[in-house]
Amino acid sequence: MKAKITATARYLPKRTLSNQDLEKMVDTTDEWIRSRTGIEKRHLVAEGEATSDMGKKIADQLLARSGKSAEDIDLILVATSTPDYLVVSTAAMVQDKINAVNAWGFDIVAACTGFIYAMETGVKMIESGKYKNVIVIGADTMSSIINYADRNTCIIFGDGGGGVLLEPSDNDIGVLDSILYTDGSGSKYLNVPAGGSVQPASKDTIEKKMHYVIQDGKTVFKFAVKNMADVSKEIIDKNGLKGDDISLFIPHQANKRIIDATAKRCGLHEDQVFVNINRYGNTTAGTIPIAIDEAVEMSRLAKDDLLLLAAFGGGFTWGSMLIRWGNV
Ligand code: UT7
Repeated sequence: MKAKITATARYLPKRTLSNQDLEKMVDTTDEWIRSRTGIEKRHLVAEGEATSDMGKKIADQLLARSGKSAEDIDLILVATSTPDYLVVSTAAMVQDKINAVNAWGFDIVAACTGFIYAMETGVKMIESGKYKNVIVIGADTMSSIINYADRNTCIIFGDGGGGVLLEPSDNDIGVLDSILYTDGSGSKYLNVPAGGSVQPASKDTIEKKMHYVIQDGKTVFKFAVKNMADVSKEIIDKNGLKGDDISLFIPHQANKRIIDATAKRCGLHEDQVFVNINRYGNTTAGTIPIAIDEAVEMSRLAKDDLLLLAAFGGGFTWGSMLIRWGNV
């Protein structure tokens, strides 16, 4: 038995932050941001809007599009690095907000690779035969952990998320393969230093701005290019495929230059690669499910197409997934 995607959804908050807006906040230019990252604008949550609020909107859409009721859902997985609370999962908040009385759920913390990790988890739950309707969400409220005085990070990230409904498949349609990696020795290059058990929140940690994302961009860039390209190539080779066999490649949207380098390494042409980083920036666990939903809306995925996903992020974490598309 396989697991297949039977509905897709996305949510981007209304408020936007353009490169021109950022020019007024930090020492940067639209030209620098565009040429170094490919980003033109990003979306930000409204005041009081949390990750589970985005998750609820995504889950509601999945239910409406699939014709399922909330009671049909067995399991809710939320990939996020910006949960509503440190204790209590965002999945629990979504479960309550949509009143999925028969579902259990939990969060998966794998930064930008979170959605692929959550997909792998959901797929294996379906393949076990025990679960029939699994909601997998990737969503992040990056604005809650970004220092808008730090030009190294504030230009990159945005808020948003997406999700899919997974159901059993008894034919060739569905998730075919995945390759996942973690290397915790990379944690020092991208993290939020305080607010966890290593450095609990204190007056000192707040004064030192330790509750914001810190990133050694150059090092992360180097690892991202190598590992995302390697793991994409690895899954193509492992399945006896060539670049031309891939109908659509949806990479994590962190930097247009990382996407281009990965595509080149895998022998993929521009028209095989989905790019929307210009409009949303890096929404961390949100980028891939947002792109999948947009690809469906734009009719860029047809039955039997081979869809390749790949991501790299904090941890370090990285991975790829190969999917044979069905009727969505
Ligand atoms: O989602 C997964 C995790 N994250 C990533 O994958 C992000 C990976 N890293 C990147 O995307 C890039 O490294 C950045 C976009 C973060 C930075 O681009 P870069 O080309 O690596 O720039 P850099 O850090 O090497 O900086 C080049 C120059 C520096 O000036 P000097 O020292 O050459 O005079 C920086 O101070 O650009 C300067 N700079 C900026 N200038 C204008 C850095 N940030 C900015 C900025 N605006 N926002």
